[in-house]
Amino acid sequence: MTARKAPKELMELLNQAIAREIQVSVQYMWQHVLWKGVKGFAVREEFKKIAIQEMKHAEAVAERLNYLGGIPTTKPTPIFVGDSLREMLEQDKKDEEDAIALYKKIVEVARKEGDEVTKSMFREILSEEEGHHDTFTTLLEEI
Ligand SMILES: [Fe+2]
Ligand SMILES: [Fe+2]
Repeated sequence: MTARKAPKELMELLNQAIAREIQVSVQYMWQHVLWKGVKGFAVREEFKKIAIQEMKHAEAVAERLNYLGGIPTTKPTPIFVGDSLREMLEQDKKDEEDAIALYKKIVEVARKEGDEVTKSMFREILSEEEGHHDTFTTLLEEI
């Protein structure tokens, strides 16, 4: 059985999600590599852990888009690593806020289309992005 082709709007949103998941998985992994100073030492493992979660999100969304008949993008949205730990964390906090807004929209569009699987997938991813946002926000308070 082939899947009913998903509407163009939903497929475009899934590709936006993939582009930003690739972006942040590279961004956080490079921040894991390029950290500086004592405070950077304290958070470098967290960057790596979150980078791996973002790569898993990219995979999950790409699998879903493929099933729905779309072609997953290979192009990340612009990557910004930052020079200082503060710059890194401020960018990451903002990127998580953008992800949260986009994924709420995807949940809403999937709900309207009756696509329960995409909806529940993005609710799950959304809760992880809120966790990342909470981590970056908390770390920013301490620097
Ligand atoms: Fe993610
Ligand atoms: Fe995230």
